[in-house]
Amino acid sequence: MVGQVMTQSLEGKRILLVVGGGIAAYKSLDLVRRLRERGARVRVVMTAAAREFVTPLAFTSLTNEKVSDDLFSATDEQEMGHIQLSREADLIVVAPATAHLLARAAQGLCDDLATTLLLATDKRALFAPAMNVRMWLAPATQRNVATLRQDGALFAGPDDGEMACGEYGPGRMSEPLEIVAAVEAAIKADTRLPLPVPRTDGPLSGRHVIVTSGPTHEAIDPVRYISNRSSGKQGHAIAAAAAAAGARVTLVSGPVTIADPRGCEVIHIESAREMFAAVEAALPADVFIGAAAVADWRVEAAAQKIKKEQGASAPSFALVENPDILASVARSPKRPRLVVGFAAETRDVIPHAREKLLRKGCDLIVANDVSEGSGVFGGDANEAHLVSHAGVESWPRMRKESVAERLVARLAERLAKSEAAE
Ligand code: C5P
Repeated sequence: MVGQVMTQSLEGKRILLVVGGGIAAYKSLDLVRRLRERGARVRVVMTAAAREFVTPLAFTSLTNEKVSDDLFSATDEQEMGHIQLSREADLIVVAPATAHLLARAAQGLCDDLATTLLLATDKRALFAPAMNVRMWLAPATQRNVATLRQDGALFAGPDDGEMACGEYGPGRMSEPLEIVAAVEAAIKADTRLPLPVPRTDGPLSGRHVIVTSGPTHEAIDPVRYISNRSSGKQGHAIAAAAAAAGARVTLVSGPVTIADPRGCEVIHIESAREMFAAVEAALPADVFIGAAAVADWRVEAAAQKIKKEQGASAPSFALVENPDILASVARSPKRPRLVVGFAAETRDVIPHAREKLLRKGCDLIVANDVSEGSGVFGGDANEAHLVSHAGVESWPRMRKESVAERLVARLAERLAKSEAAE
């Protein structure tokens, strides 16, 4: 009788299957089939050792997807970067997870595509170990498993049984259907990695910090948009520095190509209005930092793609002003104690920053020169001036991460001072 799965328990779910180099790799072919039967979309990444056991072609035939195995492949990086590959999955399944693969994952090594994906992901990984019984019971392997569990990893198996090498005991990879059951359970529960608990002894411990970062995209029609050159590097660095200082951080990010910083709750938005709504929903907070390059204007987007018609004149757009998020937060009844804006200027940097401080109603402006040749937009360094009602503090040119750390240190001092003054 041909078995038929009636319910599509994994309908629309995306599974990234990392295949390690063990004899159990042949069982992963069946695992792919079982996952696909349940409606999952499966993408396979193989380690170099895995290819010694099963060919990529076998997986390609079963998944109808390209099998990836090269961290440095220019075409793969163009089509889909490793960050995106790990982020777009709902769950990463590592089967077979060899002792070596577990060790590399536990240590955070990333010397091939498989381990890089495991390090870059914000989703859980489900490991199905497969190895010789002695290797499984070795203290080093057990330590690695404990570390991975502590970091939020899930495990299916290993089972007891006779091994390919003739020994008997734990170490055999679980049967595909058992792994499928573990996948279903993981998908049902939340597959996102839990945010690390913020440290309690940092200068911003117990504080909530909201940061906006990156550009916004203002749709013209379903395929076109207006935007700017902001990379999000400075805003993301500030979010990371605030998290490292013990704050609970909500980062509202426009479309950027850099990774989410660790330890922050990241809300991805596209337009200024979405950014505004996300910020309002995240309030109250102790500190708001508007580092995003919010588009000042939008167009009323067309519902359908605007067609280029022969002989017709070019379309013209009426621009509508976007909400000013910084000014609104500064004047909100839920105003955070500290409101910090950015001023990207191409001339008269400090006078403009002073004017912005008053106009927007904030406590501090981080002003920088983004004129052509400054390399600030998209670059790794920034030359910033911290403008407050009391004066200006000019910092030398330094990495954006260092600007972020300095700013966070100043904010912690100000918060402590303003509380002491009450
Ligand atoms: O008005 P301008 O764009 O020069 O001000 C820059 C500052 O204001 C930045 O901190 C930016 O994040 C914030 N801003 C905003 N909402 C807007 C425009 C700018 O929050 N619509």
